[in-house]
Amino acid sequence: ALPPDLAGRRVVISAGGTREPLDPVRFLGNRSSGRQGYALALVAAARGAAVTLVSANVSLAPPPGVRVVEVTDARALQAAMVEHAAGADAVVMAAAVADFRPVHAGPTKIKKRAGQGPPAIELVENPDILAGLSRPGPDRPRVVVGFAAETGDAHGTPLDYGRDKLARKGCDLLVVNRVDDGRAFEVADNAGVILAADGSAPVEIPFGPKTVLAAAVCDVLAPRLSGPEPP
Ligand code: C5P
Repeated sequence: ALPPDLAGRRVVISAGGTREPLDPVRFLGNRSSGRQGYALALVAAARGAAVTLVSANVSLAPPPGVRVVEVTDARALQAAMVEHAAGADAVVMAAAVADFRPVHAGPTKIKKRAGQGPPAIELVENPDILAGLSRPGPDRPRVVVGFAAETGDAHGTPLDYGRDKLARKGCDLLVVNRVDDGRAFEVADNAGVILAADGSAPVEIPFGPKTVLAAAVCDVLAPRLSGPEPP
């Protein structure tokens, strides 16, 4: 049996990947399957949490006992997160949010017209939902968790970039996935390192099922939510 160490806690998890409309039939999207977010929802619920899963374009069966809120684009994901995360114990942003969206998404299909050439697609930046949820205020969840898929390069390792992102976003925990070897997307297994803003030692999760990574996140989360709420 799983420890009921999240009993009575309200946890809001985003999963999947946003789709930013170009016209009524087309979108800019990404390869996120939603598996990691769904695994988190499954494990958190099994450990007693009341889970709201904000799900963007996922074709998986919802975990039992979990409340699912469906969204499509980044702005709808943000609205749902802000609504459900207000006063929650924890939020986990496992969704892949499009950084940019088309400025114009008209009601009519973009047409291919002879002699006109390809259309230019103008983009505008989407809000950073994680950074917004991390901002101090009366509605801020006690623990805010982000995910980051990172690659290393000549200037730093994936962990260097993860630490930098943790500070920039203002979240409490950041799960860093290495993606430079093609792992993580659309597969059942994942590996990662959980970084903490308070200087606690990083927790390494070896390559394995996404439910195991989810359990490791819950292991770090649960003690941070035990005890009375801070004033
Ligand atoms: O900056 P980057 O996209 O790598 O950060 C990843 C983390 O930030 C994830 O937790 C993702 O859900 C979140 N994010 C967000 N809003 C965005 C972009 C990313 O909440 N516009």
